[in-house]
Amino acid sequence: MKITVVGTGYVGLVSGVCFSDFGFNVICVDNNVSKIEKLKKGIIPIYEDGLEKLMVKNMRIGRLSFTSDVATGVKDADLVFIAVGTPSKPDGSADLSYIYDAVSDLAPHVNKHAILVIKSTVPVGTTRAVKKFLQDKGNDLEVAFNPEFLREGVAVEDFLRPDRIILGVESKKAEKALVRAYRPLYMLSIPIMFTDLETAELSKYAANALLAMKITFINEVANLCEKCGADVKEVAHAIGMDKRIGEQFLQAGPGYGGSCFPKDTSALSDFAKKFGVDMPLVDEVIRSNCARRDKMIKKIMDVCDNDVKNKNVSVLGVTFKANTDDMRDSPSIGIVNYLLEKGAKVKIYDPSFSKQAQDIFKNAEWSSNVYDNCNDADVIVILTDWAEFRAVNLAELRCRVRNPLLVDLRSMYTVSEVKATGFVYHSVGRPLVK
Ligand code: UDX
Repeated sequence: MKITVVGTGYVGLVSGVCFSDFGFNVICVDNNVSKIEKLKKGIIPIYEDGLEKLMVKNMRIGRLSFTSDVATGVKDADLVFIAVGTPSKPDGSADLSYIYDAVSDLAPHVNKHAILVIKSTVPVGTTRAVKKFLQDKGNDLEVAFNPEFLREGVAVEDFLRPDRIILGVESKKAEKALVRAYRPLYMLSIPIMFTDLETAELSKYAANALLAMKITFINEVANLCEKCGADVKEVAHAIGMDKRIGEQFLQAGPGYGGSCFPKDTSALSDFAKKFGVDMPLVDEVIRSNCARRDKMIKKIMDVCDNDVKNKNVSVLGVTFKANTDDMRDSPSIGIVNYLLEKGAKVKIYDPSFSKQAQDIFKNAEWSSNVYDNCNDADVIVILTDWAEFRAVNLAELRCRVRNPLLVDLRSMYTVSEVKATGFVYHSVGRPLVK
């Protein structure tokens, strides 16, 4: 089976590499020539655990190749996956121009027996609209929709061991071709669910909105915990043991960020309105998550007596979550920029050494490890939950700082362990430790 993946961002590259690892012949196409040249040399443009090794292995075997020539990429393909971006427009709706550009480019060259599978997250009705768009050009290509549920940082694992595969199809032919593509997962008893196109499209948005809602809910519970003396971590554990609720996505923090939740909640609210349906719960999640960022700034400023001018602020972690170098919609952007504007001397350590972050925070200083970053600090602020911060020797940090003040927006430590080291510890949704 020959698979072509159009778009070599997170989703496209991970999917292409993993399909080749299943044993299929895969061509990844991207119109970004310099990106393709790097990929041909085995250099990956993203920070994703395990991806480079798998990519190089499959390139060596000869099952995986890259091209910027779309005609070469699609002429013999049995399945063509579209995995280009659908970023937010300023009004919150999804920008579908990359989808239509990709479809227009490939249409004249594609194998007419191929199935075109949209993997990009698209508003309900888009896959059917793409089919009509092709038909209007005299092209009867079969279309399908297959949402991805890959988390950055564990995307390879998520692809190879997903909870489920959702396939929006309109014919037995498409069903058969997609079952073949995912057969290795079928062997692992991963459930495969067939639906119509609209159901598959909406499943993706509904999943992301519900997860965003879970995070927002626990963040609101955290606000209450801080006032009433309860511990949000224990509340999350207590409710998460209920199988109907589940433990995951109940970590209170600075609010969700990244390339998906903010964009997908906005797009869901937008296209629901176009169907004449209001989704006030989703709108409130978006509003509450935006407000959370200001609340986090206020928390830090309160702790610093509303004055950070010339204070040494040691920021630990700036990416939107751990195990990625991705800064898209990271809560750190607003927070660190605010501190810089107020005259703080900000020093940053992030284990990804994110180039994106260095471009964003040009006026900050950068360190190569946690300890150097905390020398002479007036306050330490943890913004991202990198595992290595858990292993930090707090007693040593205590010796290095000028003022033992720790603001931990990811609640990485137990209250008692921090108490023992003499830090004043402000975390999220738990009592203050002096
Ligand atoms: C998400 C979805 O999980 C994935 O299925 C989808 O396909 C793409 O979007 P991703 O954006 O990589 O994946 O990150 P995820 O791990 O879901 O975290 C999103 C944001 O929520 C991060 O900012 C993270 O820090 C935050 N988060 C997550 C919390 O604040 N608390 C939690 O309990 C979980």
